[in-house]
Amino acid sequence: MGSLAGRDLISIADLSAAEITEVLDVASALKAGADPGRPLAGRNLAMIFQRPSNRTRVSFEVAVRHLGGHPIPLFNSEIQIGERESTADISRILDRYVDGIVARLSHHRDLVTMARSARGPVVNAMTDREHPCQVLADCLTIRELLGHLAGARVCYVGDGNNVCTSWIYAATLLGIDLRVVGPEGYEPHPVVLERADVLAGGHSPVRHSHEAAESLEDAEIIYTDVWTSMGQEAEQQQRRDDFARLQVNDGLLAQAPPTAKVMHCLPAHRGEEITDSVLDGPQSVVFDQAENRLWAQEALLSLIFSGELQNGRTAGRGSVIPS
Ligand code: CP
Ligand code: NVA
Repeated sequence: MGSLAGRDLISIADLSAAEITEVLDVASALKAGADPGRPLAGRNLAMIFQRPSNRTRVSFEVAVRHLGGHPIPLFNSEIQIGERESTADISRILDRYVDGIVARLSHHRDLVTMARSARGPVVNAMTDREHPCQVLADCLTIRELLGHLAGARVCYVGDGNNVCTSWIYAATLLGIDLRVVGPEGYEPHPVVLERADVLAGGHSPVRHSHEAAESLEDAEIIYTDVWTSMGQEAEQQQRRDDFARLQVNDGLLAQAPPTAKVMHCLPAHRGEEITDSVLDGPQSVVFDQAENRLWAQEALLSLIFSGELQNGRTAGRGSVIPS
């Protein structure tokens, strides 16, 4: 039985480098046509979406079905987290019916409460602090492109937000040369950088700067995300002004090698953080990246549910994925 059996995934830093690699290896095998078996046969997963989603909702739902399980999507209009019922009570109740919970919640603290209140596994489908499943798919994409992750030169241009935070932890764990470039006031949170240093034993490979040129000159990957995340709509005009000089456009791309690939977690605010010419251009890999959400999450779920679940604990049946 694998080490991920029965586990929660709240932060990508909950995983070791070896466990991330295991997820990516299984994802690659599934993508290449390996039979996942039916590790979710007879199992139901609640999928809570307090915020909108296209990729995450559909890729998780398809992954659960591929693995023989039954997804139950729940939207906030129905369960009204913290209004109709407390987060802990929602979690305790769902836990009596289902074998696991996948949740996109506005506030990370609610996801932590949910995980503490449920015996079965809880998987982060994005909060205001982290987006671990996105970054698993991103790592899969980069490994496909470059053949390796350690030492990969990734320039993240944008906000020090949830996606950036998961990226900082993943880069630290995997030895990726991550350069974060953003305007003053939008840096990664100092607590995140401190945690990355702790993860790396004092020397996280992640660097942060306000200017793009030096970070771009030998970049293999240019990554961006929206300037205004879900829930920050009131700040949109201020953010447009503050981030304008860091738009990923043809001029910015010209500062990087022509072989550099462009990634974006999507949805894109076309014309804000990225132009159509770049997003639809020859260096963009955003649709391959989006597809990899499916394979990465299918792998993750197959590893988490690789044993018989009994009140959130697993009793081994072994992974069904061939090594
Ligand atoms: N990248 C991502 O999580 O997309 P959705 O918001 O559409 O799920
Ligand atoms: N940072 C974005 C990511 C969307 C997938 C947000 O939180 O809205």
